[in-house]
Amino acid sequence: MKTVIIHGQSHKGSTYHIAHQVAEKIGGEIAEFFLPRDFGEFCVGCNTCFNVSEIKCPHYDKLKPLTDAMDTADVIILASPVYVYHATGAMKAFLDHYGYRWMVHSPEGSMFKKQGVCICTAAGAGLKSTIKDMADSLFFWGVAKIYRYGNGVAAVNWDGVSDKKKNAIDKKTTAIANKIKSRSNNVKPGFKTKAFFFMMHLMQKNGFNPRDVEYWNNKGWTGSARPWN
Ligand SMILES: Cc1cc2nc3c(=O)[nH]c(=O)nc-3n(C[C@H](O)[C@H](O)[C@H](O)COP(=O)(O)O)c2cc1C
Repeated sequence: MKTVIIHGQSHKGSTYHIAHQVAEKIGGEIAEFFLPRDFGEFCVGCNTCFNVSEIKCPHYDKLKPLTDAMDTADVIILASPVYVYHATGAMKAFLDHYGYRWMVHSPEGSMFKKQGVCICTAAGAGLKSTIKDMADSLFFWGVAKIYRYGNGVAAVNWDGVSDKKKNAIDKKTTAIANKIKSRSNNVKPGFKTKAFFFMMHLMQKNGFNPRDVEYWNNKGWTGSARPWN
């Protein structure tokens, strides 16, 4: 299996260690990127990805190694510490660049056969909203199975995390990795994703954005073809 980790920070603290543990326990190939070190651009709001093509995005070339790694991975891990109750600015800026891939526009078909993990740590509070920041993108990209794990580590770095917490983290990362491995040969989206895709399929039949309509027609998704089959 191939796993890609997108770290929402460029240092190796608690969030890094937990995300890495999950990837190691899944086994296989691991690719990882650190934000903003490996991609630090902000969306300029030109709307070109939605209206013309993502290839025309001013940051397309810089983003491409990360995009390619996600597209060829079986598992996508998004990891971020809580910064003022939300994902880091670097993670948000990264995710903004894939707005065109949301199901309402032009989702990448391979996402519907992938598993995704959201990893988050906080000193204390803000885990739920931070995980949602990342899980929203995974869901609307069409990622078939999404696992969420947040831990209030009560620390500002990995060395400061107690042994008791590290033991609990070890158990949880094993459980997540085992679930991912057990599903690896049979990844299908659940009801919520399929229902949302169906609504988008109806919408694209009379779609408002010519680029999206063409995309859906070319894939056969306005007809009976489905990306998870
Ligand atoms: C700018 C900034 C904002 C933060 N905001 C919060 C917060 O809202 N809630 C919280 O519990 N911890 C907050 N923290 C603490 C970190 O989320 C926490 O220490 C986390 O485990 C750090 O992960 P890391 O070791 O991977 O860097 C913040 C830290 C920084 C640097």
